[in-house]
Amino acid sequence: LTVRFRVFRSGRGEEECRYDVFEVEEWEGMTVLGGLFAIKEEQDGSLAFRYSCRGAVCGSCAVLINRVPGLACRTQVRDVKNGGRVLELRVHGPLALPEITWLPPGEVLVEPLPGFKVVRDLVVDIRGFFRSYRRVTPWFRDGASEPGAGRMSPEDREKVRPYANCILCGICCAACPVHRRDPGFLGPAALAKAWRFISDARFREKEEVLRVVDSPRGVWGCDTVYMCTQVCPKEVPPTQGITAMRRLLLKEAVKKALGGGEG
Ligand code: SF4
Ligand code: FES
Repeated sequence: LTVRFRVFRSGRGEEECRYDVFEVEEWEGMTVLGGLFAIKEEQDGSLAFRYSCRGAVCGSCAVLINRVPGLACRTQVRDVKNGGRVLELRVHGPLALPEITWLPPGEVLVEPLPGFKVVRDLVVDIRGFFRSYRRVTPWFRDGASEPGAGRMSPEDREKVRPYANCILCGICCAACPVHRRDPGFLGPAALAKAWRFISDARFREKEEVLRVVDSPRGVWGCDTVYMCTQVCPKEVPPTQGITAMRRLLLKEAVKKALGGGEG
C-alpha cells in the first residue's frame, strides 16, 4: 500500500514555490513525520523540515496537514489520507498559500505553518514567536525557589495545569486570524503563558505582566474565535486565559474609577 505526500517546497531562489508529490510505502502506525523521513532518506535528501523529540513533546514538527495545523509526529497517516475537500474552516480565513480545494484519496497535503515566514520547504521562522514569549516574561524571578515558596494548593495547581502543558509549537498562532494579519500581535501562546503565571499564586510579578498584555496587540486584540483552543495539540485553552485577563483588567479599571469617584 502506498501513500502520496504533496509537499510544499520553496526557499531555493528558483520559482516562488512549488509542490512535489512523493509516493511512499505505507506501514502500520506511520505518522506524517515518518513519511517525511522516508522521503528524505529514500527520495530527496534536500527536503527541509523540523523535528526533535518525535513524541509530541518539543513542538518542533508543527506543520499544516491538509490545511489544518498539527504535529507531524502525532498525526497518523491513516487518519489524513482519505482525500476529498480540503477544509480551511479550522484555520479560519484565507491563507497565503496557493488554492487547493480537493485532494484525491491516498494523498496527504503537507505545508508550512501559515502566519510565519517560510525559511525553506516546511521550516518557518519562529523568532518572532519567541520574542512575544519573552515579552511576557513567563518565568519565576529570584526568590521564588526559596524553601516553601514552591508549594501550591491542589486548587491552585488545577487552575494552572491546563496552561502549563504548552509545548510552544506555534500551532495556535498559525490558526489565529489576528496573528496572521498582524505579526505584532502577542499571540495566543504568549498570552496563554502570561495567564499561566498571573494565575499562579506563587508569582509575584502579576502587575508587571498584566501591564504588558493590556494593549490592543495583547489581550484586547483577540477576536475571540477560539481557533487556538480548537487546534492546540495539548488542550491548552488560550482564549479562556485571554478572557480571564480581560476580566481582571476590567475589574481593576472599575475599582480604580469607583475609588477615584469616592475620593
Ligand atoms: S498553546 Fe497549544 S498550540 Fe499554542 S504553542 Fe502552546 S501547545 Fe502549541
Ligand atoms: S518532533 Fe517533537 S513534537 Fe513532534
